Order: sequence, then C-alpha cells, then structure tokens
Amino acid sequence: MVDIFSVKNKVIVVTGGLGQLGTQFSQSLAQAGAKVAIYSRRPFDRNQIAEKFPDVADNIRVYVASVTDKEALQKATDLLVADWGVPDVLVNNAGIDSKPDGSAEQNAPFEDYPQRYWDEIIDTNLTGVMLTSQVIGSKMAKAGRGSIINVGSIYGMVSPNQSLYAYREERDGVPFVKAISYAASKSALLNLTRYLATYWGTKGVRTNLISFGGVKTASFDKEFIDAFLDRVPMRRQAEITEYNGVIRFLASDASSYMTGSNVVVDGGFTAW
Ligand SMILES: NC(=O)c1ccc[n+]([C@@H]2O[C@H](COP(=O)([O-])OP(=O)(O)OC[C@H]3O[C@@H](n4cnc5c(N)ncnc54)[C@H](O)[C@@H]3O)[C@@H](O)[C@H]2O)c1
Repeated sequence: MVDIFSVKNKVIVVTGGLGQLGTQFSQSLAQAGAKVAIYSRRPFDRNQIAEKFPDVADNIRVYVASVTDKEALQKATDLLVADWGVPDVLVNNAGIDSKPDGSAEQNAPFEDYPQRYWDEIIDTNLTGVMLTSQVIGSKMAKAGRGSIINVGSIYGMVSPNQSLYAYREERDGVPFVKAISYAASKSALLNLTRYLATYWGTKGVRTNLISFGGVKTASFDKEFIDAFLDRVPMRRQAEITEYNGVIRFLASDASSYMTGSNVVVDGGFTAW
C-alpha cells in the first residue's frame, strides 16, 4: 500500500533546525526517512549532530547560513545540492521574538518601542523567509516540484491580548507591553505565503503557512500561563511534539492539492 504521508528520501531544509521546535521537526522527519538539512547560524559538527540526534544522525546535516544573509544561503544551498540534490521541502522555521525577560525597552509601550527591535524581528521573521524562499524555492521551481512550509503563529492572525501581560506591571512596577513586531512579521507571512502559492502555482511548488499556538515550556510565569489557558478552549498548551504531524503532512504527498493555505494548530485559541 502506498503511504501518502511518506517523506522517505525527501530532502528537507529546516531553518533554525537546532532550536526548540526545529529540533523536533528535524528529528521526526529524519526518523521518517527524510534527509534533513538544518540551516544554522553557528557551525555544528558531526559529533554534535550525533549527540543531539543519536538515532538519526546519518540523515541530518547542518549547513551554516543566517536566513538574513542571501550570500550565505546561496553557498549553503550549493553545498546541499552537491551533497543531496535540490531540496523537496523547505521549512521556514527560524524566528525570533522579543524576550519576556528582556530589557524594558524591548517590551516598552508602542509609542516608545525602539525601531532597532522592529528591524531585527522583521529582518529574521519576514525578510529571512523571503530570502530563503527566493534561494531554495527558485531551485524547486526549476526542478518542477517542492513544498514550502512557513512557520507562523496565532499572533499573525490576532493581536496579542495585552491583558495577558498586565500582571507584569502590577508585579514589577514597570510597563510591559507585548511588542508589535512579532505579530506584524507573522501576519505578513500570510500574504507572502499566498503570493508564492500563486506565483509558483503552475511550477509544482506549493506554499503553505502553519499558524501555531503556544507550546508548553518551563520559561513562562504561572500568572501568564493561567491567563493564557483561560483563552484556550482545550485549556492546555501544545506538547512539544504535537506540531510534528502537520509538518509531515505538508511535506508529504498527502497535501498535494494544498497551496496558499493557512493551517491553524492552536487548541482553538483563535476560534473565539
Ligand atoms: N514556541 C512557540 O510557542 C511558538 C509558537 C508559535 C510559533 N512559533 C514559531 O516557531 C518557530 C520556532 O520557534 P521556537 O520556539 O523553536 O524558537 P527557538 O528560539 O527555540 O528556535 C528558533 C531557532 O531559529 C534560529 N535562528 C534565529 N535567527 C536565525 C537566523 N537569522 N538564521 C538562522 N537561524 C536563526 C535560532 O538560533 C533558533 O535555533 C519560530 O518561527 C516561532 O516564531 C513558536
């Protein structure tokens, strides 16, 4: 029987593939038989790969490239093509956000929000996806096949609810406002996705967006989690492994007629 969810032997680029979610995506795709090329800002040698991904190290290679550096992306992709051929799938996963424990400036009221934080986040989350898609997507289009998966967020669909963060000012006596840049960058991915879906529609390259909700991590304050979960119909955050399935679905032929979509995986957060 043909497994329509198979990714066996597909060459899959995961940008930021050593991060929290990227590690999960890389590992689960490699376990399913894909050849996973991680694009990372820092070098990561064979021993480190073997330590981080013990059972699937042979299926994982790390190429050094920042998603904001087109020349580095081109060099990494040339090396990858020489090693494994033109990628079948690109997961635009690398992303940054303002840090909840960062400086007061980073979490300042909108009126005072410094442009440099805006630039940094837009550069990585939006320009980075544009450049990586340009470099790798164009090779896919020439090859006549490919799937681009953009990693978005619920905050690309709805604005962050500032009342979730109100406890911070009460606790610390300093204003805390969830900044605009992450939400604006992820929202822009909606139409970048539609643009590429239509642009390469007849070239066999599909482009879809996944809008993820929050993942369970130890780093959030209890006050935040309690207020956040009140707004999630399933009353829980995602387990770290719960996004692997949708990535595999969009990487495989099971999604062969899907392009330009926004797949929402958020425990219902945006349903009310
Ligand atoms: N964690 C969540 O709850 C959540 C929710 C919704 C969406 N997301 C999105 O999922 C993606 C992964 O998030 P995460 O939680 O794993 O974050 P993370 O910080 O653990 O991982 C992000 C990775 O991207 C890398 N990166 C950053 N800038 C880069 C650049 N210029 N070039 C190459 N790599 C770069 C980082 O080094 C890191 O390895 C992001 O796009 C994020 O916005 C996460």
